[in-house]
Amino acid sequence: MQDFSSAQPVNRPQHGGNIAWAASLAGCSPLDILDFSASINPLGPPPSAIAAIQANWDSLTHYPDPRYLDLRKVLAAHHQIDPAWVLPGNGSAELLTWASRELADLPSTALITPAFGDYFRALKSFGATVHPCPIALEYPQGVALSASQPLPSSLSWLPPAAGLLLNNPHNPTGAMFSVEAIRPLLEQFLLVVIDEAFMDFVLPHQQQSLMALITQYPNLVILRSLTKFYSLPGLRLGYAIAHPDRLQRWQEWRDPWSVNVLAEAAAIAVLQDRAFQQQTYDWLEHTRSPFYQQLANISGLQPFPGAANYFLIQSDYPVLQLQQELLQQHQVLIRDCTSFTELGDRYFRIAIRTPLENDRLLKGLTQTLSTLN
Ligand SMILES: Cc1ncc(COP(=O)(O)O)c(C=O)c1O
Repeated sequence: MQDFSSAQPVNRPQHGGNIAWAASLAGCSPLDILDFSASINPLGPPPSAIAAIQANWDSLTHYPDPRYLDLRKVLAAHHQIDPAWVLPGNGSAELLTWASRELADLPSTALITPAFGDYFRALKSFGATVHPCPIALEYPQGVALSASQPLPSSLSWLPPAAGLLLNNPHNPTGAMFSVEAIRPLLEQFLLVVIDEAFMDFVLPHQQQSLMALITQYPNLVILRSLTKFYSLPGLRLGYAIAHPDRLQRWQEWRDPWSVNVLAEAAAIAVLQDRAFQQQTYDWLEHTRSPFYQQLANISGLQPFPGAANYFLIQSDYPVLQLQQELLQQHQVLIRDCTSFTELGDRYFRIAIRTPLENDRLLKGLTQTLSTLN
């Protein structure tokens, strides 16, 4: 009997979306893997992004504008703020690094756990002291799909000089925290960094973004990503919204051309692509609830009712074994949660994809679990 708990411990990826690793386990080409492990919009990238990239090949012979004036103008218009409050980056991961440099100057940083692994990378690289605040992980029976979840009560016991790094909607649980619940934390913490990488997947009227509060709180930083909603993780594009003095400081810390010319052109195009945005809302609105229900109907699996484009699922079966069987028998990749230390081998996360692709996962899960019973 193979010991799956220690399968490939050295090579097991820390992040979703590693299809080269999955293909080596499945014994197929990376292109044959159906990837549920990275929470990327299956409808993209939008044709407007590809057209913008193709139209801008000639720009490759020039450096990008280090002030990113055009892109900042479009991002600012998108959020109805002043361009001085926007800084584009090489994915939101790059901006997380600079936010972490500032958090590391404070005595401690509160972090809701389980937490996206890159937070630890970024905070550790500047020697930040992390104060974990665990989120409730009981299976929330009967809660509506996009209901606001309570924040960990341990947050209110932290000293006022602390920083806070909060993910909304939260990865991996999909929990969404309300603006009302977060607002008092802006008074309590010296620096509040809100990672809203998945907020675009929430219907506009249900979103709980702090964007409207940005000019009232100089201690607030919002991080956003364009890689997930527009399906461009390979291009790398994110942005920070924060006080101009803070963003100016980050610009002085980093290399002057973090965002390449093709990413800049694609971002300008997709932010104005209302048709793609609407298409994505329509797909998610029609797909999320039935898919959740189908997953909940599989015996031994308990999905969390997430507000974003993914579900965390508690499993009665060992997940590394399930993951391996799904790869080898169905070329389907799910995200094991072993990199989230609080979760271990009884949880996995899956993206919501197209109905046909979701069916392939459901079939694979049903078949595989029947053999594990
Ligand atoms: C919660 C969260 N924040 C940020 C990121 C980084 O995204 P980007 O591609 O914009 O760097 C990820 C990527 O998986 C994520 O899950």
